[in-house]
Amino acid sequence: MKFDTPATTNPIDQMKVIGKPVDRIEGVLKTTGTAPYAYERHEVASNQAYGFVVGAAIAKGRIRSMELEAAKRAPGVIAIVTAQSAGELAKGQYNTVKLLGGPQVDHYHQAVALVVAETFEQARAAGAMVRIEYDRMDGAFDLAKAKDSATKPPRISAGPPDSAVGDFAAAYAAAPVTLDATYTTPDQTHAMMEPHATLATWNGDELTVWTSTQMVDWARSDLARTLGMPKTKVRVISPFIGGGFGVKLYLRADALLAALGARAARRPVKVALHRALITNNTTHRPATIQRVRIGATREGKITAIGHESWSGDQPQGKADGAVHQTRMLYAGDNRMTATRIAVLDLPEGNAMRAPGEATGHMALEAAMDEMAEKLGIDPVDFRIRNDSQVVPDRAIAPTAENSQAQKPEAATGDVKPAGHPFSQRQLVECLQIGADRFGWAKRSARPGQVRDGRWLVGMGVASAYRGAPVTKSAARVRLERSGRIVVETDMTDIGTGSYTIIAQTAAEMMGVPLAGVFVRLGDSNFPVSAGSGGQWGAASSTAGVYAACMKLREAIVQQLGLDVADASFSDGKVTSRGKSVPLSEAAAQGELVAEDLIEFGDLARKSQQSTFGAHFVEVGVDRFTAEIRIRRMLAVCAAGRILNPKSARSQVIGAMTMGVGGAIMEELAIDKRLGFFVNHDLASYEVPVHADILSQEVIFLDGPDPLSSPMKAKGIGELGLCGVSAAIANAIHNATGIRVRDYPLTLDKLI
Ligand code: MOS
Repeated sequence: MKFDTPATTNPIDQMKVIGKPVDRIEGVLKTTGTAPYAYERHEVASNQAYGFVVGAAIAKGRIRSMELEAAKRAPGVIAIVTAQSAGELAKGQYNTVKLLGGPQVDHYHQAVALVVAETFEQARAAGAMVRIEYDRMDGAFDLAKAKDSATKPPRISAGPPDSAVGDFAAAYAAAPVTLDATYTTPDQTHAMMEPHATLATWNGDELTVWTSTQMVDWARSDLARTLGMPKTKVRVISPFIGGGFGVKLYLRADALLAALGARAARRPVKVALHRALITNNTTHRPATIQRVRIGATREGKITAIGHESWSGDQPQGKADGAVHQTRMLYAGDNRMTATRIAVLDLPEGNAMRAPGEATGHMALEAAMDEMAEKLGIDPVDFRIRNDSQVVPDRAIAPTAENSQAQKPEAATGDVKPAGHPFSQRQLVECLQIGADRFGWAKRSARPGQVRDGRWLVGMGVASAYRGAPVTKSAARVRLERSGRIVVETDMTDIGTGSYTIIAQTAAEMMGVPLAGVFVRLGDSNFPVSAGSGGQWGAASSTAGVYAACMKLREAIVQQLGLDVADASFSDGKVTSRGKSVPLSEAAAQGELVAEDLIEFGDLARKSQQSTFGAHFVEVGVDRFTAEIRIRRMLAVCAAGRILNPKSARSQVIGAMTMGVGGAIMEELAIDKRLGFFVNHDLASYEVPVHADILSQEVIFLDGPDPLSSPMKAKGIGELGLCGVSAAIANAIHNATGIRVRDYPLTLDKLI
């Protein structure tokens, strides 16, 4: 089904099942430990052996020699895979460097060997016996030092690296009130709960992997590409994923090495990347240096706004897209954004939890706060005064760039003319409702004034912006003889609730209760979906299910000899011209199957589809120790129709929690001499826990967006993070009067 005209009234609008805060349908499997994760697939292949990944001990250089004999003779060892023994391997489309290094080493902990043994302990013990001599080369590991050598990347995830409208320099120079501030954000790691893990087995020349991936089809195509085999010979199964956060968008070493290990051992092999390896072996969010300049009239009208961002990565790597929201959020006739990337020899940087906007808001929304203070205008009011109902950066193509942005094959470069409308933009409402509900009026405009015992108390606000990309997504729906509806798509559920909203979609469309739908996800034998990433998954994958259900409805009506135009589906029956027939009757002669996909045509390019929100935070800062406490958080989000308010709320709360991490805790410490992240486990990389945040609330401005998809919904997960860290930094400033521009705002920076 092609989506190229705005959605009109359709079966989804009944909202009998869609829009209801139902519990996750797979929740019981997870809470009872019976949802099978990749490393736990004991039942699917007998005789499983264990692989242990050996990571490079240098950041840059070459392997001079590898001594494997001792490891080979160690108890239980079955095989050892190295780049030398594995033969020619290609680089995956989505990988920056090779997943199995050697002799060249591109980064610390790049995989250089896999030891396969009868037990995990034997594999690990033998792994420690692999002796490698390196020729170490000097590398660049410090963004601040490499900044001046940075160059313009070909593009950032959401469009061109640079943009310019009007005459920024002149307008900034002429502005009566200006701000020029530079912010830094550190390298961060995803820290998802489930490590990367894969069980691989060969049947002749056919490979099956049970793995943990956000994107089944990308994993499948990159496995095939790397191994030099046809994609049709690779099957990827990933029904349950214990968190992704972007690090599981792309094929990683566990899957490739499990496949190579299984081939070498002639047995099924499972490989998990152990926790201390993940941070340096896989991807991370790169550090940024961001300069924001704002010029405004004394009345608080922005006349010039500029945002420059520097980040680093391996050669051929990606720049952080931190400038993106600055093209979208606020009015201003003269504007510029610029993105530069420096070559660093740290591990690969890549997408993590709202990549681009997550870091970008940390700078822009703190700068907006600083500017409001300079102007003597309330920061909520300052944002509202500079709202824009069209895309403010007229140099930027709207959704054509923004949608499907992270899928290289779908990227387009056509730049649209000025003033594109947003399909929906409720930033002002989010700010107003949030201010009202949060009790913003009680905030002291002057910092450092409010005390509660030993605590200095402050409030902060930030706007939230995130694109709402949509992408092609297919599904298959069956009506079984029993009347049960079965949905099959390779969509993933990374803890987000995909199973549930897909079941809700099918139940609504087919007029059956939620319990009458069975959902199968995460198998490359199923139709290719949008997958999970960039907050495109929910809206796109349910639209694909919608399309398949429309087809199944037609098939049912036809089978029963009813009139299509007049048919309605409810209570497990199809009714046409007063005649009601149970659905199961249509499948009496055999089940009915329909498959379709949603494709997004030009409509998606005619208006900018985005999500908006506002974050409000109250913090306490200990007067004596500078300990920071998050006392209250409120998010107000506008993201079209909310498919399931319960799972959507969980998404936003999780994202807000990540924002707390970004504001006051998360930071990868770099050994700038040897070039690796030192705190590479969950003991030394700090993330927030429940006790760190006393109260979180979420309000949705629920309103269908007929331009987004037939579902009239948009993604929500990443919006919940954008702006949170800045709101906290702003609240800390309001509490203490201290402005810290280097994240995270740890207490040592406040003393
Ligand atoms: Mo997300 S960082 O696109 O998985």
